[in-house]
Amino acid sequence: MSLVRVHNFSISLDGYGTGEGQSLENPFGHATDRLHRWFFGTRTFRRMHGQEGGDTGVDDAMARTWGDDIGAEIMGRNKFGPQRGPWQDEDWQGWWGPNPPFHTPVFVLTHHPRPSLEMAGGTVFHFIDATPQEALRRAREAAGGKDVRIGGGPRTVRAFLEADLIDHLHVVVVPVVLGRGESLWAGLEGLEQRFDTEVVTGPSGVTHLTLTRHRGE
Ligand SMILES: NC(=O)c1ccc[n+]([C@@H]2O[C@H](COP(=O)([O-])OP(=O)(O)OC[C@H]3O[C@@H](n4cnc5c(N)ncnc54)[C@H](OP(=O)(O)O)[C@@H]3O)[C@@H](O)[C@H]2O)c1
Repeated sequence: MSLVRVHNFSISLDGYGTGEGQSLENPFGHATDRLHRWFFGTRTFRRMHGQEGGDTGVDDAMARTWGDDIGAEIMGRNKFGPQRGPWQDEDWQGWWGPNPPFHTPVFVLTHHPRPSLEMAGGTVFHFIDATPQEALRRAREAAGGKDVRIGGGPRTVRAFLEADLIDHLHVVVVPVVLGRGESLWAGLEGLEQRFDTEVVTGPSGVTHLTLTRHRGE
């Protein structure tokens, strides 16, 4: 069976995966870019955005497996964009421009489905209203035997953790305190008991946690 994986998911010391007040100007709300500064300098991030160069240290080593053997992504509607409720602007095609870095089918969970969007480079956004189990079934079908990445945001990762559907969870703890926002861990008491946890701290100051679901469970 293909695996369900989360990669490079950045949270603050107090466990928030995004800030409050998302807008077109601030996709992460009051967190601004503080959760992802560790990522911007890596070779992996630069390649994702068609640029040369970048650091190849610990952070890059942890980040670069995000695309290996991934055949589809599932993301929440708030990762896709800042609109809420019924779509007012169906011209919106996500934050990533005409050639998004996913290069696979991407299932966007929303209570407001709209026609699929075919982008350059192989990314196709499908907008679906589905339970995590049903979304995963559809993503697996589209992934053709490869793994499925849960791309965020925190509400979506949390829902898949609550449903016990995640096999591999890579979380990056960034030494900032946000004080408010959307928590990754809320309601998930005892989650660690289902996983083996490994910890790597890099010179940049962030801590990489890798939670791997116990074998045979
Ligand atoms: N820290 C990181 O590494 C990271 C990674 C990715 C994204 N982010 C950030 O996270 C933020 C978004 O996260 P979020 O937690 O606010 O929201 P989210 O998980 O992206 O999306 C939640 C929304 O998706 C829709 N949805 C979720 N599950 C559904 C289901 N089963 N059926 C139908 N619709 C469903 C609902 O929207 P509707 O009811 O409106 O349709 C829900 O309000 C953004 O700021 C993004 O930039 C952070």
